[in-house]
Amino acid sequence: MAKDSPSFKCTSCNARTTKWAGRCESCGAWNTIVEDTGLSVSGPSKQGMGGRRGKMLELTDLKSMAEAPPRTEAGVAELDRVLGGGLVHASAVLLGGDPGIGKSTLLLQAAARFARNGLKVIYVTGEESAAQVQLRAQRLGLADSPVLLASESNLRDILTTLEAEKPDLAIIDSIQTVWIDTIESPPGSVSQVRASAHELVNMAKRRGISTILVGHVTKEGALAGPRVVEHMVDTVLYFEGERGHQFRILRAVKNRFGPADEIGVFEMTGRGLAEVKNPSALFLSERGKPTPGSAVFAGIEGTRPILCEIQALVSPAPQGQSRRAVVGWDGSRLSMLLAVLESRAGVSFAGLDVYLNVAGGLRVTEPGADLAVAAALMSARENHPLGGQTVFFGEISLSGGVRQVIQTENRLKEAQKLGFTSAFLPRMAKRSAVQGIALDEVDDLAGFVTSNFGQPAPQ
Ligand code: TYD
Ligand code: MG
Repeated sequence: MAKDSPSFKCTSCNARTTKWAGRCESCGAWNTIVEDTGLSVSGPSKQGMGGRRGKMLELTDLKSMAEAPPRTEAGVAELDRVLGGGLVHASAVLLGGDPGIGKSTLLLQAAARFARNGLKVIYVTGEESAAQVQLRAQRLGLADSPVLLASESNLRDILTTLEAEKPDLAIIDSIQTVWIDTIESPPGSVSQVRASAHELVNMAKRRGISTILVGHVTKEGALAGPRVVEHMVDTVLYFEGERGHQFRILRAVKNRFGPADEIGVFEMTGRGLAEVKNPSALFLSERGKPTPGSAVFAGIEGTRPILCEIQALVSPAPQGQSRRAVVGWDGSRLSMLLAVLESRAGVSFAGLDVYLNVAGGLRVTEPGADLAVAAALMSARENHPLGGQTVFFGEISLSGGVRQVIQTENRLKEAQKLGFTSAFLPRMAKRSAVQGIALDEVDDLAGFVTSNFGQPAPQ
């Protein structure tokens, strides 16, 4: 940067200016403007370029590094699978989720398992006192686990502790409580979260300490929440679920060491989180006799087939203001599907309120759910229950065609395992038959609607 063009930046919102001011014009924060050297605060000084020439490696030299990274399994299959087969040594993981969803509970249980499997584990808590964590450990029956607790939030203290103790795994609960004394903004602000995470991830790589950072999803959106940390870490996991429901889903949204989109299913019990080995059975367990508006979707989450119930409710809307409300699925995808039903299959939902819910607190992101959603919507609109032993899957295009989805056979096998006897699915390129399941191949939405619901009744 030329010497005669000074540059300043706000440590809270990162806005740049050419002159110093007491108050940032962009975000209104006081005393946050600092001279921007173009380098991080802890980086080298400004004397000349002052850098060292980097060491070059040939890609072929990296062969040995490309081998499977060393991992340790927790012995909790649902967690190990989401991590891609266990915790990779010296990796940095972010666990995000709403406050109160069970992140601390999950990590305390995981810490105990990793410690039992031979890792030296330090649990740094900035949110609760060590005594509170101990109490929780007692309630979870983990009081005698060899996990070390540290109640600290100053980054210098945390780094010094980790340097001295040299653990294999450090859990930082949470990144929003950690603060650096060289930055003036309060703990939890973007600059504090970003700088602390940066230092902790550096430490993980430099000292070979696997590090799990907990991040709360903040109400104001994701600004100071886990989002600002996502790009720094190797693996990003989110812990999801409805607070009123006992099911919790651990989802990998980014993983440098394994597949993304893998999920693990847990149940919150009086004694902490329990693994759910057969999620399909759980998600379908509350299904009664077939009712209008209910359709079973044979989905794939990560590498695993999961069956769940899609529920729709359609009711006349008060004059002129029809509502669309969705839980567990994408609202704009529902609007698209309703438009396709109207344009391609001649079924209008105008003047009707439409409610859609994925039972059990699961959030479905796969486009393969389209056909099941369309079936649930039609069944609700026509007040016509679908056969209780039938599953649905297939993506619907804007032209109304029903498209292929991945892993047809796995979906059918899971359905068969759970006692289903028939499936509506896209026309298959190659026949994959699964014993005991009658296949009903669907070419387009219009055909599906007329053959199952006849000519739709005008509303
Ligand atoms: P917690 O792990 O503290 O959430 P987070 O760290 O994500 O903020 O979990 C909080 C909730 O979990 C709390 O409302 C109580 C409930 N819970 C149980 O139901 N059973 C248990 O055994 C434990 C430890 C917590
Ligand atoms: Mg917590």
